[in-house]
Amino acid sequence: MAEVIVLETPAEAGTFVAAHIAAQVRREPAFTLGVATGSTPLPVYEGLRAERDAGTDFTRMSAFALDEYVGLPAGHPESYRAVVDREVTEPLGLDPARVHVPDGSAAGIETAGERYEAAIEAHGGVDLQLLGIGRTGHLGFNEPGSSFGSLTRVKTLTERTRLDNARFFDSLDEVPIHCVTQGLGTILRARHLVLLAFGESKAEALAAAVEGPVSASMPGSAIQLHQRVTVVVDTAAASQLRFADYYRWAQDHKPEWQGI
Ligand code: PGA
Repeated sequence: MAEVIVLETPAEAGTFVAAHIAAQVRREPAFTLGVATGSTPLPVYEGLRAERDAGTDFTRMSAFALDEYVGLPAGHPESYRAVVDREVTEPLGLDPARVHVPDGSAAGIETAGERYEAAIEAHGGVDLQLLGIGRTGHLGFNEPGSSFGSLTRVKTLTERTRLDNARFFDSLDEVPIHCVTQGLGTILRARHLVLLAFGESKAEALAAAVEGPVSASMPGSAIQLHQRVTVVVDTAAASQLRFADYYRWAQDHKPEWQGI
């Protein structure tokens, strides 16, 4: 079962997860972080900047992004390449050559998935993968119906996801219809999954992912197949968890040596 940690606020959750990542990086500077985009991971990135200010050196860390839109013009501020550069690469001082994002440019899109899988494999995989969850239950851009064995490939976004992401663009028409996303099978190969969810709007999908049946109709439920998952949520996102009392009880009695 996933370990579920309920904290009061997204900021508290971000600080908590960032402290864990920073401790890993201090032990192993060539750590590989799987980065997510959207609003959810931002408190973690803020926490990582605070860890850098406090002296952690992230400059040897590598990063692999989960996904990218297809067909946005190079340098578009909402391309995930630009978001990762802005939120992670530049502020933490990562070497841009060690920061990987799927190639969403239209030329060569047929092989973008294979090329990304080869890059992850050649690198030796991802140590810790940060994940958000969409209201559709998607992980990365694996919308309902995605195979649990899927690898990085081109997918079509649901209208729900396009509407949810329209806030980052001037209009809905500008939100791409296609993306390149790590598959659920790719995500499940990461050595540690950290799923974050904040706010009431994520409560239903989160509960289904953590406690519901394992089903391709709820991509988030793929986490139940992984041996090391930490779910870090605020109280609003935790509001529909059936076993929330038990999760809190387990945290209160957690052996100190265990870590996350
Ligand atoms: P959000 O998206 O963090 O912007 O809510 C999460 C997701 O869609 O995976």
